[in-house]
Formats: sequence, C-alpha cells, structure tokens
Amino acid sequence: SQLGRRRDVIAVRDRPLMLDCNVQGQEPIQITWRKNGVPLTIGRRVQVLANGTLWIHSFQKRKEGGDADTGEYDCAAQNRFGMLLSRKAKVLLASLPKFHTHPTSMVVDEGGVARFQCQISGIPEANITWEKDRVPLSTGDNRYTLLPMGVLQVTAVRQADVGGFRCVATNIANTRYSHEAVLNITGSGASRTYKEPVILSGPQNLTITVHQTAILECIATGNPKPIVSWSRLDGRSIGVEGIQVLGTGNLMISDVSLQHSGVYVCAANRPGTRMRRTALGRLVVQAPPEFLQWPQSVSKPAGGSAVFTCVAQGVPEPHLIWLKNGKVLMPGHNVKLTNNNR
Ligand SMILES: *[C@@H]1O[C@H](CO)[C@@H](O)[C@H](O)[C@H]1NC(C)=O
Ligand SMILES: *[C@@H]1O[C@H](CO)[C@@H](O)[C@H](O)[C@H]1NC(C)=O
Ligand SMILES: *[C@@H]1O[C@H](CO)[C@@H](O)[C@H](O)[C@H]1NC(C)=O
Repeated sequence: SQLGRRRDVIAVRDRPLMLDCNVQGQEPIQITWRKNGVPLTIGRRVQVLANGTLWIHSFQKRKEGGDADTGEYDCAAQNRFGMLLSRKAKVLLASLPKFHTHPTSMVVDEGGVARFQCQISGIPEANITWEKDRVPLSTGDNRYTLLPMGVLQVTAVRQADVGGFRCVATNIANTRYSHEAVLNITGSGASRTYKEPVILSGPQNLTITVHQTAILECIATGNPKPIVSWSRLDGRSIGVEGIQVLGTGNLMISDVSLQHSGVYVCAANRPGTRMRRTALGRLVVQAPPEFLQWPQSVSKPAGGSAVFTCVAQGVPEPHLIWLKNGKVLMPGHNVKLTNNNR
C-alpha cells in the first residue's frame, strides 16, 4: 500500500489532528515524520505517539511567526533492513469561502421552467440545501429537482412558486447563505403563445472517478413543452443499467465505469416535429492506479543481477517511480529502469 494514491486529509482549525503511519516491517521500527519533505519539529504541540501516529494538539492556520500546519506529510519507518516511506498525506484546512455564484432572479411563464444555481467551493465539499421565503424547501414536490452541484430546477411553474429562493451551504467549517433570487410569473396569456424549444441549461463537462455517480443536466423550455432525450455523440447506446432520469430531463448514471466516458448529447424536440435544439457535454471517467504486480524479495550472490517487476494500471496511465531505502532510484551504471518506468 506504500506509495499508493496520495491521501487528502481535512483538518479543522483549533481541533486535534491524528495521522497514522501506515508502514509495516520487522520490529524494532523507528518512525520519523516529515512535512513538505522537511523533518518535523516534535514538541508539546506536535507529538509522535508510541504506535507512530502523529498527533497535532490544535491544528493551526498560521502559527506565530511560522507556517500553517497544512502541507504534505509523510512518515519513514526505519528498521535493521532499511527504510520505507509512507505515501504522502496532503493535509488541508477545512474552509467555506463565500459563494462565488448566487442564484439570479427569474420571470417565467406560468407552466414554464425556472432554474437557480449557486456555487461555493468548500473543503470538504459543502452540502447545499435550498430555502423558499427563508423556509427549507420541501423536497416532496416532484416539480422541484435538486442537483448536487447547487442547481434547483422548478418545472410546471405556478403561482404558488412565486417567492424568494436562496441556498444554504454547510460543511464542518461553516454555514453560509446565498443572496436571495426572486421567482416571478409573467402576465397571463403568455402561456398560450407558441415558443421554440430552448435548452435553458445543458450538460457540463465532467471528470469523475469510477463507481461515482454522474449527473448530466438538461432542462429545456418551450411551448408546447419540448421532449428531452439523450444520446451519445459516437452513436453507441447509453444503455439502461444504472441510468435514471432526474426531474424532467437530467441524466443520472450510477456506478460509472470507464465505458461511460464519452460525449453526451441532450436534445430538446418540439413534440411531433423534427425541430430540435441540442447541447453537448463530455464525461471523462478516471480510474485510480492499482498494482497488478509487485516487486518480490530476492537473494543474489554479489556480482549477479536482480530484476524487480512492478505493473500498475489506471486511467490516465499511472507513472511509476522506484524507491530504494526511501530514496528515489535513478538509472545509473548498475541500475536500469525499463518500460514504463522510463
Ligand atoms: C495510535 O494510537 C492512538 C492513541 O492511542 C490511536 O488513537 C490510533 O488509532 C493508533 N493508530 C494506529 C494506527 O494504531
Ligand atoms: C445534506 O443536508 C441534508 C439536509 O440537512 C441531509 O439530509 C443530507 O444527508 C446532507 N448530505 C450530506 C452529504 O451531508
Ligand atoms: C467541453 O469540452 C469541449 C472539448 O472536449 C470544449 O470544446 C467545450 O467548450 C467544453 N464545454 C464546456 C461547457 O466547458
């Protein structure tokens, strides 16, 4: 497990943080910790426990005249055979900065659709909920669709939907409220005039990891109400397994696999005609690196040669490095690296 994917650890300001040293070997083992490649100063505030775990009593944003506790940590385990380095853990401070997108007010025809969006970049990612007129929005109404990226869609808008909408973002660091956007309905009569289909919001380009859930947005307006359908640009079938439509036209793909990568096309058709509008979004599915073959221990007489093999797979293709006693191994007069160890 050493040198696997870098881990991200989220720390909360003024709270303790523990980092375990995940290396194994024959006892006795001596554990040392480094931050950003520099040995850590151990003291009252930062200690190494008997089992090798690093304990920071109270996580600091910025110490008096010094650095913050955020950074990349790793530990080294030394025994009589040599030294192993753990993979790095990137320690981030939990935070919730201001919203960078607030919902904007809309005026729509009765029976039409409304869409509000708010965006905030929290660490960890914030949980976004909505309020209408300062009261939590009831999610029981199926005309309301909440998408996890901070989008609220309202379909078949009626008089009762008129009001002020705002979002509430919460994570372990804070809670924040967005500005309020007003939803209003245009004067009567508009709902009977013909309107071409328009895609109010199409799918975003999205990069996710295998087994996660992909949500591709598509919401269209028009009179009569357009019919939304999905296809892949390469003509391959979207399939049915794990596929769901959220609300009136958003595509949800659960447990994505590499085969789901591709460009997705949302089409909004005027019923009974060929008139359509389309919008595209690219879905990129990535797979974390995984070892298929590990180096094996060997005993060789002096003067002989030893071959170690390591094979890993992932998307994008993983980059392999070799370490000897915790130090990066460079090709030299008696060390050769081949294939994708370059
Ligand atoms: C190390 O010890 C601490 C304190 O007893 C404990 O909380 C932590 O889980 C231990 N870590 C491991 C890897 O055993
Ligand atoms: C987000 O908040 C809602 C409402 O409080 C809650 O039901 C839901 O479990 C939360 N989701 C996450 C991922 O915390
Ligand atoms: C999505 O990616 C394509 C290229 O793959 C690019 O042309 C397009 O502008 C991107 N769309 C958005 C909304 O970023």
